[in-house]
Amino acid sequence: MTPQTLENKPAKKILVTSALPYANGSIHLGHLVEYIQTDIWVRFQKMQGHTVHYVCADDTHGTPIMLRAEKEGITPEALIANVHKEHSADFEEFLVAFDHYYSTNAPENKELSQGIYNKLKAAGKIATKTIEQYYDPVKNMFLPDRFIKGECPKCHAKDQYGDSCEVCGATYNPTELINAYSAVSGAAPVRKETEHYFFKLSECEDFLKEWTRSGTLQGEAANKMGEWFESGLNDWDISRDAPYFGFEIPDAPGKYFYVWLDAPIGYMASFKKLCSDTGLDFDEYWNKDSSTELYHFIGKDILYFHALFWPATLEYSGYRKPTKIFSHGFLTVNGEKMSKSRGTFITARSYLEHIKNPEYLRYYYAAKLNSSMEDIDLSLDDFVARVNSDLVGKYINIASRTAGFINKQFDGKLLIPSTYPSVVQEIKNSAKFIAECYDAREYSKALREIMRLADHANADIAESAPWVKAKQGDSAKTELHWDCSRALEMFRLLTLYLKPVLPLLAANVEKFLNISPLTWGSVDDSLVTGHQIQQYEHLITRIDPKLIEAMTEANKENLVATPQVAAPVAAQAVASALPEAEYISIDEFTKVDLRIAKIVNAEHVEGAEKLLKLTLDIGEETTRQVFAGIKSAYDPATLVGRLTVMVANLAPRKMKFGMSEGMVLAASDERGGPFILSPDVGAQLGMRVK
Ligand code: MSP
Ligand code: ZN
Repeated sequence: MTPQTLENKPAKKILVTSALPYANGSIHLGHLVEYIQTDIWVRFQKMQGHTVHYVCADDTHGTPIMLRAEKEGITPEALIANVHKEHSADFEEFLVAFDHYYSTNAPENKELSQGIYNKLKAAGKIATKTIEQYYDPVKNMFLPDRFIKGECPKCHAKDQYGDSCEVCGATYNPTELINAYSAVSGAAPVRKETEHYFFKLSECEDFLKEWTRSGTLQGEAANKMGEWFESGLNDWDISRDAPYFGFEIPDAPGKYFYVWLDAPIGYMASFKKLCSDTGLDFDEYWNKDSSTELYHFIGKDILYFHALFWPATLEYSGYRKPTKIFSHGFLTVNGEKMSKSRGTFITARSYLEHIKNPEYLRYYYAAKLNSSMEDIDLSLDDFVARVNSDLVGKYINIASRTAGFINKQFDGKLLIPSTYPSVVQEIKNSAKFIAECYDAREYSKALREIMRLADHANADIAESAPWVKAKQGDSAKTELHWDCSRALEMFRLLTLYLKPVLPLLAANVEKFLNISPLTWGSVDDSLVTGHQIQQYEHLITRIDPKLIEAMTEANKENLVATPQVAAPVAAQAVASALPEAEYISIDEFTKVDLRIAKIVNAEHVEGAEKLLKLTLDIGEETTRQVFAGIKSAYDPATLVGRLTVMVANLAPRKMKFGMSEGMVLAASDERGGPFILSPDVGAQLGMRVK
């Protein structure tokens, strides 16, 4: 028998992906829009009884990752292994439950990528062409447009990227830049010929037009496609020359697949690994005539890759195409682009450190998300207000106002003396509508409906006023019992509806209500007389707005405490290669009070593995006590009397072993250290570093 879902339709087999995050940066709140959006959808489909596999991976190849590893003095493999750990932990803590989280730098991906390339070649879809490209003669490498900078040919703004001007918005070829320089070495790039491999996208137009008409894309995305067709499709350059971190092209020594060729194939590779780990049938999901469904969640910035290159690649290499591509908008914070100087460029980790509870953010994003490609705004004030008033004030309130009576007065046993009244029935009746909203990615509509129902539940509680009846003694006891039992049944139903968004909270409610895990079919169950619940414990608390303030402050501070250090070669040029958001202004820099300090005492700290306790004289009335993580490299006795550099205006921090009133500067990485900094001969204690 084929498994059936709630609506008695046969269960579907579904493969779902989120875009693969680049392995050269941390997951931030912008990324999380996508992973949370996808995770909610996946959890909902699983609750419906469908068979769903949700896969993702780190996107590990390309020049930026290669250069970053070099800058950190480690291999790209070591870099991506570190990032994989970091990303996996972030996702897990945000309750994004991938069935498999892989890496594009994996054997399955290499085999699939090379296989697909060979099939495209056999289908006559690969061509070679000699092109001229910018080349860094110092670094001996071809330069991606992003790594060439120079003066804008239109408005003459300095230090603009190779493809477009951030000042006047002009787009151009890097050849048109005035006084171009390599952002890697600072050298003037030269033009050099090289043979590249192309995927003949221009020949795929008919197929793509047909495919676009099949309803795979949202309306807005289909319109975008229309524009692209109008301006004509160019062949796609899929090769890069060594040195490049990626997969070599078969029979083309020194040529590598451009990262965007093997990245989407990473979806297949991650699933393939899941198949070999769990015995699933890879071909059933990827063969040309597969009856399974395939959904890609992506951001609007990568539509071109997913709506043009990807289906064409699949078509001409003999695989199935996506059922649908779901594209979402970009996150803004307080109405503006995320910004490091405003402290709104917030990493997943920083959110967890400050706010702790990931479900607040999941709830807020869900309350804002719909099926369109519009941007979504995280207004931090609204975030606090919405979570506190809806999630805590409306939903949790239902249980917190009633559960105590059941626990204390009725031994935790429920009483359901008659059929449920219309208010409960109304909540049940919304199951279909809410399911349709989730299925259509109209999460904000779903939550609005759920909160409307919560309002009704609260009105029912307010009307029956259990706290009044509790004081009336035996005469009102049965009514009190029934009122509170009914409230918990409503709470159960609302929990079910919120479960895709709040999986952890729902699990705690299941424990408290002493029921088996809720699925969509649980709408038809009811709590019955005699059912025993557990002791009610606080499920969630209000957000303290101070936490938000501390989080944005900390993200501003980070910027000052860890300025990006440019490589010694052509430091000026390298610094200009940083994304705009990573600059700090001279004002921000001068906020840091750096002083020459004399170490007047240094000692071990009982029980501290890494720390030495330093006493520093910077010419003020009192000395400073600083705990520095330099124990591994220094015998304290050798430090006494030395001059070093300290941050004198770092807010004092209470540490396990006492107050730390500043910070000494030291250098370290995988190659060694820490090495504390010393001033040149002649420097006096107390001097300011400017
Ligand atoms: N590596 C590519 C995707 C390859 S898929 C085969 C990439 N990586 S990314 O790290 O830049 O972005 C990962 C996903 O997060 C993308 O879908 C992107 O649109 C999304 N977002 C990144 N920043 C975002 C916001 N600020 N807001 C919303 N989504 C954002 O692109
Ligand atoms: Zn310009």
